Amino acid sequence: MFESLPGFREFYPDQCAVRNHIFKHWKKAAISHSFSEYDVPILEPLDLYIEKSGEEIIGQLFNFKDKGGRDVALRPELTPSLARLIATRAASLKKPLKWFCIGENFRYERPQKGRLRSHYQLNADIFGELGASADAELIALCIRALTIFGLKADDFVIRLSDRNIWVDYLAHFGINDKQSIEVLAVIDKLEREDREHSLKKLKTYFGKGTEDVFEKIETLISLRTLEDFRSFILSQSLVDSNRCKIEARLVEWEKLFDHFNALQLTPYIQIDFGIVRGLAYYTGFVFEAFEKSGKFRSLAGGGRYDHLVEKLGGPKLSATGFGMGDVTLTDLLNEKELLPHINGTTSIYVIIGGEVERVKALTSISYLRGQGYAVDYSFKNISYGKQFKLANQSGAQLALIYGAKEVSENKVKIHDLSTGCESELPDNELKFELKRYFEK
Ligand code: HAM
Repeated sequence: MFESLPGFREFYPDQCAVRNHIFKHWKKAAISHSFSEYDVPILEPLDLYIEKSGEEIIGQLFNFKDKGGRDVALRPELTPSLARLIATRAASLKKPLKWFCIGENFRYERPQKGRLRSHYQLNADIFGELGASADAELIALCIRALTIFGLKADDFVIRLSDRNIWVDYLAHFGINDKQSIEVLAVIDKLEREDREHSLKKLKTYFGKGTEDVFEKIETLISLRTLEDFRSFILSQSLVDSNRCKIEARLVEWEKLFDHFNALQLTPYIQIDFGIVRGLAYYTGFVFEAFEKSGKFRSLAGGGRYDHLVEKLGGPKLSATGFGMGDVTLTDLLNEKELLPHINGTTSIYVIIGGEVERVKALTSISYLRGQGYAVDYSFKNISYGKQFKLANQSGAQLALIYGAKEVSENKVKIHDLSTGCESELPDNELKFELKRYFEK
């Protein structure tokens, strides 16, 4: 027997129903924030990801040569394709843009709990707004895309950080912009790697002073309030230019928190400089959403990437966005018992007395399907008892019975499958009765 490839996913109907439930609610959340839907190709030129996404993702690419000899890759994320889309029409698109997409991504990771080789993401991005109000709107949508399933502030947290502050702080130790991307990649992994291993990697950049710098990095990561952060910065002997840059960022942080307070989102937010994001293109505010106890891998991640559109040949255009994955979210919703029991797609099951009644029943079935109802019935002539069993298994709310008596009198019997209540009515009243029933 053939097996699917490691880390790739097959969806039986019950699993597909869960996936659809998640997509439906993600879409509802995005639309409630007035985001518009777009789509991009699944297969892209390999170059799109080289240098744009960063080391970690490049190592995880599914890439190959196509039959025309082109180097191509299955998309590991949506952001570079989206930035290209925007870059191509940047002049004619009315800003700010608020766009979303739900799509599959492929990463050659070691399959493990919460991380597979194929996953779906809700991506939401805002282009053309530099201020903290765009970051606030985006983080608000990220929170909405989780609370819409019934998750609460006790269940998850948005860990918020700032790449600009990190770059300005690292500059104090002589780290330039290019090196800071590499140092931040080490900091990104601190939580998952042992201290000695990280120290060794940082030695390349900080030499003899590595232990001292590392302690400072650890202190910065442990801070949880803006006040503590301010005191920390004051305690460091930064040169004026770096101190000014960091103070300017603090003004942005205050603006962001004014938004969170007004939107009543503060309980969901935790300041945490341990978040730096593994992807190379991030610039300012960055964040990740985690289940509160920290036992799951990230639910979502995102932040500002103000230079990517320009790097892809477009104009200078600010951008901020996030991606939320379906794998950890489904695990979390399962654990919290927040996934509805989705039992099939049928709403009406038609029970047929025998071959003679089948003609009448099929005419009715065809009519009802045309009216938009999801209708099912048995292909074979089987007993009423067996048909009722199938009706209950199908998840339908109503059964319509076309027995010999009903058909001869031009009537139909309606059986409510949850209450067991039955009523009989003339055929021509069925339409009104169903409308009344399904609209209540
Ligand atoms: P990311 O942090 O690489 O960001 O992925 C976002 C989310 O996708 C993660 O938090 C996780 O839930 C899910 N995810 C990532 N890799 C896997 C995997 N191998 N298996 C299961 N789930 C996974 C990005 O992709 C950015 N492009 C997001 C973004 C959009 N930034 C700006 N706009």
